[in-house]
Amino acid sequence: METFQPSTNLHPLIAQRRSSRLMDPQRPVEIWKIRLLLEAARSAPSSNNLQPWRYLVFDERDPEALQKARECLTPGNQRWANRAPVLILAIAEEIRPDGHPNPKALHDLGLANENLILQAIALGLNVRPMGGFDADKARHAFNIPTGYTPVIMLAIGYPAENLEGIPEDILEKEQSPRLRLPLAAIAFEGTWGQPFSQLEMTPSSPFTNPIPTENRGC
Ligand SMILES: Cc1cc2nc3c(=O)[nH]c(=O)nc-3n(C[C@H](O)[C@H](O)[C@H](O)COP(=O)(O)O)c2cc1C
Repeated sequence: METFQPSTNLHPLIAQRRSSRLMDPQRPVEIWKIRLLLEAARSAPSSNNLQPWRYLVFDERDPEALQKARECLTPGNQRWANRAPVLILAIAEEIRPDGHPNPKALHDLGLANENLILQAIALGLNVRPMGGFDADKARHAFNIPTGYTPVIMLAIGYPAENLEGIPEDILEKEQSPRLRLPLAAIAFEGTWGQPFSQLEMTPSSPFTNPIPTENRGC
């Protein structure tokens, strides 16, 4: 693993995104922003345009449901995620409307989630995905039907301004470097194991929108 030092050509949203746990419990997230996150998710590509993503939103408008969602989290996640004013449960539709399994459902839900996350970062919010929750408990608590699988809980909130009350070990984790496998370990070309040959990034000018309109297919 190595410390992730993004190229200056990487889009700032991608370069700067981190899954911060430091949420401001006092500052609710405006409902129009939550709606925009869902719109971002909805716009994702999907296999056969099946759109196998579903979202369940929990926030201050229904404190009882928010509390039930918090109780689905593992104790380790509750330690910081209980400060998040919004939780969103991301659910995959793993059975297609025609009754056959959709083997790409989890993939497509992931695409939609990343859209949601990047939109949230663009709005100044923090998001941290959590696999650490009891999916069966969530299924029963929120009447999620068969064929739909609760996959990830997203904790969302404004960045904490006041760090009081946040456990020391969590603050320490937040300081840790962003680690990634080297590009050479994940990118091959031609055949498995043959390293991608252009490992050095060029050019290295600061980010400007590099995508010409004519290349966007619109
Ligand atoms: C599918 C998935 C499950 C995750 N589950 C948890 C979790 O239960 N608790 C937690 O604190 N972080 C969780 N994370 C956050 C990852 O630990 C985090 O994304 C990873 O360490 C990389 O850090 P970064 O997102 O800040 O770059 C999860 C992330 C993903 C994508």
